[in-house]
Amino acid sequence: ALVSMRELLDHAAEHHYGIPAFNVNNLEQVQAVMAAADEVGAPVILQASAGARKYAGESFIKHLIQAAVEAWPHIPVAMHQDHGQSPAVCESAIRLGFTSVMMDGSLHEDGKTPASYAYNVEVTRRVVEMAHRVGVTVEGELGCLGSLETGLAGEEDGIGAAGKLDHSALLTDPEEAARFVQETQLDALAIAIGTSHGAYKFTRPPTGDVLAIDRVKAIHARIPNTHLVMHGSSSVPQELLARINQYGGRMKETYGVPVPEIQEAIKHGVRKINIDTDIRLAMTAAVRQFLHENPDKFDAREWLKPAREAAKQVCKQRYLEFGCEGMG
Ligand code: G3H
Ligand code: 13P
Ligand code: NA
Ligand code: ZN
Repeated sequence: ALVSMRELLDHAAEHHYGIPAFNVNNLEQVQAVMAAADEVGAPVILQASAGARKYAGESFIKHLIQAAVEAWPHIPVAMHQDHGQSPAVCESAIRLGFTSVMMDGSLHEDGKTPASYAYNVEVTRRVVEMAHRVGVTVEGELGCLGSLETGLAGEEDGIGAAGKLDHSALLTDPEEAARFVQETQLDALAIAIGTSHGAYKFTRPPTGDVLAIDRVKAIHARIPNTHLVMHGSSSVPQELLARINQYGGRMKETYGVPVPEIQEAIKHGVRKINIDTDIRLAMTAAVRQFLHENPDKFDAREWLKPAREAAKQVCKQRYLEFGCEGMG
C-alpha cells in the first residue's frame, strides 16, 4: 500500500534501522526494487528526481509506482520526490500523488548555486505548510553536497557543475541544523558530510577527513528526534567498475561510501539513504557483459533481464545491510 514516508521513517527510528531510497526512472528499476524488497520483507521508498519525471513523463512515473503498489499490495511504499528545486515542483509532485517531497533549498532553483539560510528556511517552511495539510512528508536539506577533497559538487564526468564550494558549506552545522528544524518543522533532514552525487566521490578509499561520519554523530546528538538523510550514498563497488571496464567501458578509478560507514551512521540517526549510482553501475555492467557474450542477440528483453536482475541484487544487499529484513 502507498504510505507516507514519515510512517516508514518513524518505524525505522523505533527499530534502529535505515531505509535505502532508490531512484527509479523506468519499469525495470521499479520492478527490481520491489522484487528485492519482497524477497527480504523490506519497506520501500521509491524516489523520482526531476530528471526521472522528465525521462519517463509524469503519467508514466505516477502509474509505474501505482503499478508497483498494485502488484505488491503487502509492501508499504512511499513515493518520494527527490531534490525538488522549488515549492512549485513539490506542489506538482503532491498533485501527482507523491506521498513525500524533498524541498532542496540548499541550492537555488538552478540546482547549482548555494542559497542563503534565509532562502532555505523560507521555501522549506512553505512546502511544509502545503504538504502537511494533506499528510505528505517533507525532507529538507541543510548544507551543500560536495567533495571535501576538491570542493566540487560531483558529476558523472568527475567535474563539478557549481564551481568550488566553500569548505564550511560542505559540512552541516549542528547548531544551524537545530534552528532549521525548529523553524521549518520538516520531517527529515538531509545533511552534508562530504558525500556527492554520482560515481566520482572520492579519489581513494575515504577516511574521516573526507567522509565526516563524526558530523552525523554531532548532529544527531543535537537533534535526536529528527530523521537524518544521507545523499550521495552509493558505495560504488569496485567489482562493478572492473566488470564495466572489462567489457568495453572506460570508467576512471573512484571510490564510494563504504557500507560499514553507512551502518555506523544508521546507529546515529540516519534513517534514509539515497542510492542511484549503484543501480546504474549494476545495470551497465550486466548489459555490457551480456551483449559482449551474446553478440547475436537483439531482443531488448534479453539484455534488460540481466540488468533488472543485477539491480535487484544490489537493492537486496542494501536492504539486508541496512537492517530492513522483515520490517516491511
Ligand atoms: O540527485 C541525484 C540523483 O542521482 C538523481 O539523478 O537527476 O540524473 O535523475 P538524476
Ligand atoms: P548516489 O549518486 O550516490 O547514488 O546518490 C543518489 C542521491 O543522493 C539521490 O538523491
Ligand atoms: Na530526496
Ligand atoms: Zn541526492
